[in-house]
Amino acid sequence: MNALKDMLASPRLGDEKPGTCMTCKSSQVPAFVEQYGAELFYKTPVKELVEKHGFKHSVVCADCHDSKTMELKITRIAFKEAMQRRGIDISKASRQEMRSYVCGQCHVEYYFKGPGKYLTFPWDQGMVLDSIDAYYEKEGFSDWTHAESKAPMIKMQHPEFEIWSTGIHARSNVSCADCHMPYRREGAIKITDHWIRSPLGNLTNACLTCHRQSETEMRERVLQIQDRTYGLMQRSERAIISAIDGIKAAMQVGATDEELKAARQLHRKSQMRWDFISAENSMGFHSSQEVARILGDAIDYARQAELEAYKVLVKRGVPAKQVSYSE
Ligand code: HEC
Ligand code: HEC
Ligand code: HEC
Ligand code: HEC
Repeated sequence: MNALKDMLASPRLGDEKPGTCMTCKSSQVPAFVEQYGAELFYKTPVKELVEKHGFKHSVVCADCHDSKTMELKITRIAFKEAMQRRGIDISKASRQEMRSYVCGQCHVEYYFKGPGKYLTFPWDQGMVLDSIDAYYEKEGFSDWTHAESKAPMIKMQHPEFEIWSTGIHARSNVSCADCHMPYRREGAIKITDHWIRSPLGNLTNACLTCHRQSETEMRERVLQIQDRTYGLMQRSERAIISAIDGIKAAMQVGATDEELKAARQLHRKSQMRWDFISAENSMGFHSSQEVARILGDAIDYARQAELEAYKVLVKRGVPAKQVSYSE
């Protein structure tokens, strides 16, 4: 309900940010896209959409429902296009699939493709992190250059749909709505809870329909997964900082871009993995083993990056004891 307000209050927005940023924040997007086309929508600055085109409504019923039939509906073309490229016909989706697809329009990793900032989901080769990495490599894409290591980086954003899709619940056909919009009773009628929120505030409805344990036990299970994930995330952060420090040290003794190519590439790989988990909003719960695997890879790539940088230092005769090593 407050998505648009929150976005417009963000100092990051500035005057230049393209319409692409508005895609998941306003129910007026589909109508504009239908009238003027997606290219123009993505190119038009948010400021102009608000001031000239009267964008003022946040996410509402029509973002997930057909306004005539109330059927669940996909309203964002980036999701349609990405699924089409993967050979999936969403018009044939089952009702249970739609109960996750509606969320997958917005709760996903994406990037702005080309000068027109065309909203694109990097799923052509699959939705696991490794396929997303391969996609960005093939496109030769980076979002930014790291100020210290000068590595070409990818910024990940909220990949809930992707991470969920690798977990035991997706495999067991449990949808986003099953946990975030569980049924509740009003008298004799079962209705879908539209207070979309953390299931931790609603465990009886969200989990106990399928799990026979107590609320306390289910909460403990979630928190245990989240604590372990957080621990691994911090370890990967320390490893990534060591990689950056190693590359910086090599740069200080005059290492060339060619010599640092491997180290920078490994820094990119490790940090995009950490970011994929950090930017995902369940802190590991949506797919605990996959998340641990990705963070394990992040730590390994970061330490490999550090070793590559040290090889350069050693080659240049910097004594080992002068090479700082952080834990
Ligand atoms: C049109 C885009 C869009 C769709 C569709 C969408 N979301 Fe969101 N969702 C957002 C945005 C944007 C936010 C962040 C809002 C904010 O913080 O201002 C959000 C926030 C959330 C939150 C956090 C709420 C809180 O209390 O902080 C949850 C949970 C969530 N969404 C789950 C879902 C689920 C489940 C679905 C599918 C049934 C879904 N969303 C569909 C855009 C969307
Ligand atoms: C983020 C997506 C989303 C938004 C926004 C949303 N709904 Fe829903 N709605 C759902 C889902 C998912 C279901 C379950 C549909 C199913 O199981 O087939 C649902 C079900 C319903 C149903 C069917 C009855 C029931 O309780 O299951 C009605 C009626 C409904 N929504 C009305 C609304 C209205 C009115 C609004 C706006 C105030 C709204 N919805 C906003 C996702 C959404
Ligand atoms: C098996 C239940 C389950 C399923 C299925 C599930 N989630 Fe979650 N989700 C959770 C739990 C548990 C959390 C952690 C909540 C917390 O830490 O407060 C969470 C967290 C989130 C958050 C952050 C909420 C917040 O308040 O910060 C978002 C957003 C979210 N999920 C979206 C999704 C989307 C989108 C899908 C489907 C692609 C999905 N979830 C599928 C259980 C589920
Ligand atoms: C619609 C049914 C359904 C709902 C709702 C549901 N789960 Fe599950 N959950 C499952 C199934 C099925 C499995 C897999 C069990 C198996 O195959 O042994 C599972 C597995 C799990 C596991 C084990 C995960 C692992 O990696 O082995 C945990 C933890 C869990 N669920 C927690 C939750 C929590 C917390 C909620 C509520 C936020 C929840 N579930 C909601 C059906 C559900």
